[in-house]
Amino acid sequence: MYPLEKFTNIRTPFYYYDMDLLRQTLSVINTETEKYGNYFVHYAVKANANLKVLKVINEYGLGIDCVSGGEIEQVLAAGFPANKIVFAGVGKSDWEIELGLDKEIFCFNVESIPELEVINEIAGSKGKVATVCFRINPNVGAHTHANITTGLAENKFGIAMEDMEKFIHLAKSLKNIQFKGLHFHIGSQILEMDDFVALSNRINELQDKLEASGLAIEIINVGGGLGIDYQNPEENPVPNFADYFATYNKHLKLRPGQTVHFELGRSIVAQCGALITKVNYVKEGSFKKFAIVDAGMTDLIRPALYDAHHKIINLSSTEAEETYDVVGPICESSDVFDKAIQLPKTKRGDYLALLSAGAYGEIMASSYNCRKLPIGYSSDEL
Ligand code: LLP
Repeated sequence: MYPLEKFTNIRTPFYYYDMDLLRQTLSVINTETEKYGNYFVHYAVKANANLKVLKVINEYGLGIDCVSGGEIEQVLAAGFPANKIVFAGVGKSDWEIELGLDKEIFCFNVESIPELEVINEIAGSKGKVATVCFRINPNVGAHTHANITTGLAENKFGIAMEDMEKFIHLAKSLKNIQFKGLHFHIGSQILEMDDFVALSNRINELQDKLEASGLAIEIINVGGGLGIDYQNPEENPVPNFADYFATYNKHLKLRPGQTVHFELGRSIVAQCGALITKVNYVKEGSFKKFAIVDAGMTDLIRPALYDAHHKIINLSSTEAEETYDVVGPICESSDVFDKAIQLPKTKRGDYLALLSAGAYGEIMASSYNCRKLPIGYSSDEL
């Protein structure tokens, strides 16, 4: 599966994207959403903005979820049509709002009244009307890491449910705003479908309230968050999209003409990407053996930041297994990829692959320690 012979000419560490797996994943998504007719998936580009990856996603007709002006520029460069872009974010700058208006994106997901007023003002100055959804904080928890849960009342995201009606009336009174619907997002790496059921139930309650007040909405955007199998990526390379969309179909009650929008990031790109690194040294410590690799937390920060687990395999050795801590070269004690894992006997020069690294990997890389940013290669080009 990994073309090791082609890796030897490339400077490590680097990201490797299996484009066949990406295509397979995208075609499952299209097959599953086509069953419902009014489901639209916007790829959350924050997960991976590599142009080679974006171009393939665009071929499958997905829309896009952006959270910055830079992301809007990147997806336009990849060829996505502006009218499929939703633009979220709690702190949009004026130039980002201007860019969204100039390019005529599909919708702004607005998170506060001051933001709504600024969008109205900037749209007015351009003689334009901004299409807007409100991001509502549904106060629904998700069973995931505390740093990536977003839908609780204590989080900074969204508009409080009790303010929703008042704010919709305000939006409708603004000349340069066209209010279209509601947006939600409860967190990331969610594996329990019950969390999405809880969100659906909450949306149903809110819709009933709005209906009773005579307020109609066209768009329901349920955000993203579907998780992937980091433990057994080789056995489960494609997430269970059938279950995911069927859960919403069963629990979310729609009114005639409504469309449902999804903002999936991780579940689309995580499994197709691996971080490829070379072993620089094997060091015998007092108590354990360290495989010191040339990738560090600057290339893949998830283990250091979220205690995330990425399965590590040795692409060069088939010898009997031994126990290793796999660590990077950065001057930080959190620069550890995994502890006490079994790997075939590992030596200097071996290639290791850190799996499931296609989402929030390359895009979160930094140049701390003046390190070079890792390059992402696609299987199509190697
Ligand atoms: N929509 C909104 C409003 C979001 O905030 C996010 C992710 C998504 C969609 C996409 O969620 P996904 O389908 O990828 O779960 N860096 C962290 C993940 C942060 C997620 C931030 N928001 C990690 O490496 O786990």
